[in-house]
Amino acid sequence: MESWKRRGFGPAVLVKELHERDRRRMLKHFLALEKSDRLLRFGTQLPDELVESYVNKIDFSRDVVYGVYNRVFKLIAVGHLAFAPKEKSPAKHAATTKERVAEFGVSVLRSTRGMGVGTKMFERAAIHCRNNDVDTMYMHCLSSNQTMMHIAKKAGMEIQRDYGEADAYLKLLPPNPASVLQEAVEEQFAMLDYTFKANTRAAVKWLDRLPGRKQD
Ligand SMILES: CC(C)(COP(=O)(O)OP(=O)(O)OC[C@H]1O[C@@H](n2cnc3c(N)ncnc32)[C@H](O)[C@@H]1OP(=O)(O)O)[C@@H](O)C(=O)NCCC(=O)NCCS
Repeated sequence: MESWKRRGFGPAVLVKELHERDRRRMLKHFLALEKSDRLLRFGTQLPDELVESYVNKIDFSRDVVYGVYNRVFKLIAVGHLAFAPKEKSPAKHAATTKERVAEFGVSVLRSTRGMGVGTKMFERAAIHCRNNDVDTMYMHCLSSNQTMMHIAKKAGMEIQRDYGEADAYLKLLPPNPASVLQEAVEEQFAMLDYTFKANTRAAVKWLDRLPGRKQD
């Protein structure tokens, strides 16, 4: 992980944990994905109702969902790190001696791809697993998904391909003080950024509602 390419230019990618209040924006993000991207993200062409049901069923007390908000408080990326007891996933059982396994799925809007957002989300999920006694992070995707295969290989994931699909496993190191601090600092910065953008957005909306103000 440490050897991954560091992107020295452009705005920092601030990955924030999402909560109940972000659910509506998460749905908007998924519904805005192009058809082919929805297929890559979910492995099947999910209709809108099932996407909505997936979002409604996300259990924030068990899983962690990450997001990246852009300048105008639009959710441009969502990553879902789902945890399950290893007994529930016999195929992944063998890969770990820990109690739980984690599976990560991510999507980034087309307009903001190629800027390191997907990689940063992936790194953030991996460090969270590491700090929470999970030593194997798993990803399932179509093997035709060149971009995700590239990110997986770059991270050193072991990839097993079968009938057009691919399972990738990342073995993680145990936590250390640096990994714990890194996760806490990243969340703190992302939280400040989120609060600033949310307040700015609220202020702009409020100003737009003032009498005599021209509406676009
Ligand atoms: C996969 C996805 C999340 C990547 O997001 P992103 O923000 O563009 O990712 P990054 O910018 O961090 O990295 C993209 C990397 O893939 C590389 N890449 C882009 N297109 C590629 C292609 N066709 N073949 C190989 N590599 C490719 C880029 O060069 C970059 O590599 P680098 O970091 O070594 O320079 C995004 O494309 C997406 O949302 N796809 C649809 C949903 C999906 O496939 N989800 C994954 C399944 S869970």
